[in-house]
Amino acid sequence: MCGIVGYVGKQKAAPLILEGLKRLEYRGYDSAGVAVWQDGHFEVAKKTGRVANLEKEAARHKLVGSAGIGHTRWATHGGVTDANAHPHLSSDGQIALIHNGVIENYVSMKKFLLAKDYTFKSETDTEVLCNLIAYHYAKEPAVAGESRLLESVRKTLRHVEGTYGIVVMALDLPEELVTARKGSPLILGLGEGENLVASDVAAIVSRTQNVVYLKDGEIARLTPKNFAISTLDEADITPVIDKVNWSIADAEMGEYAHFMEKEIFEQPVALENAMRGRFSEDGSTAQFGGLNITPGEFRGIERFMFCACGTALHACMVTEHLIENFARIPVECDYASEFRYRNTPLFRNTLFFVMSQSGETIDTLAALREAKRKGYKVLAVNNVVGSTIAREADGGIYQHVGPEVGVASTKAFTSQLLIGAMLALYIGRMRDLSFGAGVRYVNALKGAPDLVRQVLKQAPHIRTIARRYAHHTDMLFLGRLSLFPIALEGALKLKEISYLHAEGYPAAEMKHGPIALISEKCPSVFLAPKGEIFNKIVSSMQEIKARKGPIIAIVTEGAELPPGLADEIITIPECHEAVLPIVASIPVQLLSYYIAVERGCDVDKPRNLAKSVTVE
Ligand code: G6P
Repeated sequence: MCGIVGYVGKQKAAPLILEGLKRLEYRGYDSAGVAVWQDGHFEVAKKTGRVANLEKEAARHKLVGSAGIGHTRWATHGGVTDANAHPHLSSDGQIALIHNGVIENYVSMKKFLLAKDYTFKSETDTEVLCNLIAYHYAKEPAVAGESRLLESVRKTLRHVEGTYGIVVMALDLPEELVTARKGSPLILGLGEGENLVASDVAAIVSRTQNVVYLKDGEIARLTPKNFAISTLDEADITPVIDKVNWSIADAEMGEYAHFMEKEIFEQPVALENAMRGRFSEDGSTAQFGGLNITPGEFRGIERFMFCACGTALHACMVTEHLIENFARIPVECDYASEFRYRNTPLFRNTLFFVMSQSGETIDTLAALREAKRKGYKVLAVNNVVGSTIAREADGGIYQHVGPEVGVASTKAFTSQLLIGAMLALYIGRMRDLSFGAGVRYVNALKGAPDLVRQVLKQAPHIRTIARRYAHHTDMLFLGRLSLFPIALEGALKLKEISYLHAEGYPAAEMKHGPIALISEKCPSVFLAPKGEIFNKIVSSMQEIKARKGPIIAIVTEGAELPPGLADEIITIPECHEAVLPIVASIPVQLLSYYIAVERGCDVDKPRNLAKSVTVE
């Protein structure tokens, strides 16, 4: 959730940390802060609000030191105040700390520390952790060749219940950072005469592409020229150095007004990247490199279970529809947050999937662990290479769409839909889907990027519609079959970025409740593609129209609607069933984006949300 950056090297740390924080702002933006070691003290600047506020504050502090730590916060313990912003200093001034996560036993720790005369300026669990490190640090003997800081952090963390990604500095060690993780991602960036640590590759990729993904239970010490990793139990770890395969330009906005806009328009290329190399030579099925499960094992699967959160869950729901339809195998989808606590009976030959753009969502990770604990194989559909979910899963499929920065997921969502469709094809072709049907399916998927390009051309038309409806307070999104999850996604997008009340419903179910909301003040967006139930959807539209509800209809090109039924019409090209959810997502993304813009909302950083939710 919160963003973390640490730097130790020869350059001025503050500008590099601030640049990194800007790239991490999507993780949390209640407040931000930076601490730099200089002239024998920690110079700390913190400010509520965006990193831009912190930049002004930092300028006043004249931060010139070459080692420091910085943080963007998404509040958990304690309100959004300057005092609660990170970094925190221990009351003896010896330790500076930034923290992502939740320390569950901080109350008892605080009691212990208060009795030892440590004092507190904030309401955070983080300040408690910082003082506990200071307590151990003060007692830690200096042993030649060993790091006092490392040892005292290790001792402290043995007492901690909860989750953390931390970076720590000590006043008498100006060229040393200690960092440790349990449940919150941390990545070491290895540079020339400098080393970095961050919660996200985006914050360090401008300095280096050589990274080490820290694992839970690991602790690392960084100096300008060296780094060493060990475990809390003092076992040395041989690091695996990975190369980040994207550049800083991938994480920049370019000519667009918002990352969300950029990512919407990037979708044709993102889809091409997600499908590259993933079709069989005979062009009749999909193939995946990292499933770690043989076709024979796949053939024996009798049931699939998908778990995810938010937008990713909607992608799972579409996948459910496609697998059941094309592979004829029952699929169940569940909110990861519910699954982890529900005592769900699972069948023997069930294959478990989780989907997560970030690969760090704590509820999804917990669902994965629960399924593994029960003895199931778990595969992951995930965008961020090296994420915790990617590492803990038994195998999986990377989305390969590059960094997604906008908090509201767009290109990651449609690539999940694509991968879900490819999975349905892969499993279908092992069963009853014929060669010819497979070839048609593959060709349809290959054509998806161009169909998306066609729909994107309607952006100006959709913007005009958005202007007309931007100041309503409620909106319904209605769809059926594979487009019901797209209706849910449309409503979620609108809620997330424009703070407008929206609900997604199966179109025919609307008459069992939501119809009570209908009036000229509550527009309905209908996803009404050509197909066998088109006329049924038209009947639902009639029911809305009879109650004076405005209708925005998303229909297949050439579809005939009764005159005057829809107030607005957006068309999508005719397409294969596996591609339809992808193509139909584009107008709902554009509609919610332009409505949010019209309402003057902060599209990329909607209030109260975080891109990656790493706390429960
Ligand atoms: C957060 C974001 C959502 C996202 C969900 C799951 O709630 O605000 O946009 O869909 O997490 O994220 P994941 O990274 O697991 O796909």
